[in-house]
Amino acid sequence: MTPRMKIEIITLFPDYFKPIIEQSIIGRGKENKLFDIRIINLRDFATDKHQTADDKPYGGGGGMVLKVEPLDGCLASLGYEMKPKPTEKILLTSAAGCRFEQTGAVAYSLLNRLTIICGHYLGVDERILSLYDIEEVSIGDYVMTGGEAAATVIIDAVTRLIPGVLGNFESAMSDSHSDKLLGAPVYTRPEVYKGLAVPEPLKDGNHRLIEQFRKKESIRKTFENRPELLEEIEFEKNDLKYIDELKQKKKSTN
Ligand code: 6GU
Repeated sequence: MTPRMKIEIITLFPDYFKPIIEQSIIGRGKENKLFDIRIINLRDFATDKHQTADDKPYGGGGGMVLKVEPLDGCLASLGYEMKPKPTEKILLTSAAGCRFEQTGAVAYSLLNRLTIICGHYLGVDERILSLYDIEEVSIGDYVMTGGEAAATVIIDAVTRLIPGVLGNFESAMSDSHSDKLLGAPVYTRPEVYKGLAVPEPLKDGNHRLIEQFRKKESIRKTFENRPELLEEIEFEKNDLKYIDELKQKKKSTN
């Protein structure tokens, strides 16, 4: 069976990905041939005798910039041309990129091919963006030394959405962010721990009540941790009433 999705990672630090590929859910999905991950050492595409893939920035300042020739050579060797097929995408990890969110993870999980260039923290020679259709993505508003960790985050978020990678597809359906709400709190045995009991509705076995309870708890969790997310959602009357209650309660405790 040919894998559903081909993932290529272009990096100056190929060893970084070895344990990640072999272990965890990502490892299992690869083992089961649901997707294939190939690590490409950008240094192999260096064009000078010292095999340099990065260099100092024009205009000065600290740090290093990924050179354009090795990147161009690498993408060309992968068969990319200026215009990618609709079923493939090239990403570049960059603190200056668009925010990678769950909607992106879902969109990427539908591709046949995803190529991720791991950027240096300072960046890559901007001209590569004129040669290929590349999407710059950031995983959040903070700066990391390199894009390897970001690429790992993206691969994890994307591959777990490929059918068969997770044991339980339902658990992806109830994810935090899949409906713009954070996930409801979860519990497992024992039923009571240090006087703290598992909420009644979850033990009841009535699926409608369980769903109602979880929805409310999702709203409460979102209200507490990410209130700005609630502004983007259109709620039913009942939910709006509950949100008002949460607001009132917060006001009275402040
Ligand atoms: Cl994708 N790269 C780097 N270097 N820093 C980041 C990032 C990416 N996303 C957030 N911070």
